[in-house]
Amino acid sequence: MKYALIGCGRISPNHLEAALNNNLEIVGICDIIPEHMDILLEKVGVAKDKIKHYTDYHEMLQKEKPELVAIATESGKHAKIALDCLDLGANLIIEKPISLSLEDADNIIKKSKEKGLVVCANHQNRFNKSIQKIRKAVEDGSFGKMLYGTAHIRWNRGKDYYTQAPWRGTWEQDGGALMNQCIHNIDLLRWMMGDEVTEVCAYTDNLNHDYIEAEDLGMAIVKFKNGSYGIIEGTTDIYPKNLEETLYLFGRKGTVKAGGKSVNIIEEWLFENEKENPEKVKQENSEMPKNIYGFGHTPLYKNVITAIQNHTKPLVDAEAGKRALELVLAIYKSAAEGRPVKLPLDKCSTTDFIGRFK
Ligand SMILES: NC(=O)c1ccc[n+]([C@@H]2O[C@H](COP(=O)([O-])OP(=O)(O)OC[C@H]3O[C@@H](n4cnc5c(N)ncnc54)[C@H](O)[C@@H]3O)[C@@H](O)[C@H]2O)c1
Repeated sequence: MKYALIGCGRISPNHLEAALNNNLEIVGICDIIPEHMDILLEKVGVAKDKIKHYTDYHEMLQKEKPELVAIATESGKHAKIALDCLDLGANLIIEKPISLSLEDADNIIKKSKEKGLVVCANHQNRFNKSIQKIRKAVEDGSFGKMLYGTAHIRWNRGKDYYTQAPWRGTWEQDGGALMNQCIHNIDLLRWMMGDEVTEVCAYTDNLNHDYIEAEDLGMAIVKFKNGSYGIIEGTTDIYPKNLEETLYLFGRKGTVKAGGKSVNIIEEWLFENEKENPEKVKQENSEMPKNIYGFGHTPLYKNVITAIQNHTKPLVDAEAGKRALELVLAIYKSAAEGRPVKLPLDKCSTTDFIGRFK
């Protein structure tokens, strides 16, 4: 399958490695800053002359006609590039968040349906061994009635991270801690608790990063349609480095905790009707990746390739990408307006919050 990558920055090695691991035919990589492509190839150990370089993605799409394109540019550019790729018949893996406005997410969903193309939102933590195991327990009813779940993202991002790429932390191109760093776990909480959210009540603030526009701390209470609740607490303020990304799920008959730096380790596994040895479950379904991005890109790519080949939906389709985006935007809205917000949200974008922390 012909594959191309647009955007060769910080997360791009995970994409190229996933493409190589899945034996995709890499027909081109594209970045508006040429050196970024060389740095990427050096990082993944591929010779410069082995892969064609482009600085204009339109030219790459026209010449190479890739069947699958990954978009890993700044978040505010995802939607325009995605729509251009769909117009030319490419299936897509779009880095999270799928877009920065609900309108853009809807346009991507609509066009992908019109064209019969697969779109995946890159929430790779869904493929962590720990998360896959927990999801099975959700699906087979082991928790009994779900009561509540909590998502904690206690990470650190300092000035260097924002100086490296000035789009980060802006309302036009990114959003803050919740939209960028915490959206993975927000996606997991929503997915595990039954997807349907009715109401959100939240606070957000910028306490420790006066050089970015958006929030560095967010706290929210979420009401799910099935009567259960969620708590979200996410920040990039933790001194002096990333502490944890943790997901707790509490049901009448089960308690689970996935912890570690990015929900890679099952730390609690307690069920009334336990058929397996909990210690074995914890051991066999915990991983220690070299960084917070984990091992998820390769299985996510595999899942997308299978979906394209079999004309099925990928595990994290564009609607799932929109749901994660919607929940973050609902948190922003509730915090900005100082009141609970009902879902589904109609129209909302990160740019609605420009000036919020001035
Ligand atoms: N899944 C994850 O765990 C994860 C981790 C980090 C970042 N991300 C997401 O990936 C995206 C990129 O983040 P990053 O930290 O790698 O950013 P980055 O700034 O390091 O890289 C973005 C790259 O895109 C390039 N670019 C911009 N416009 C382009 C265009 N029109 N055509 C081609 N290239 C273009 C830039 O020159 C830059 O090299 C963001 O949406 C971010 O939220 C996801």
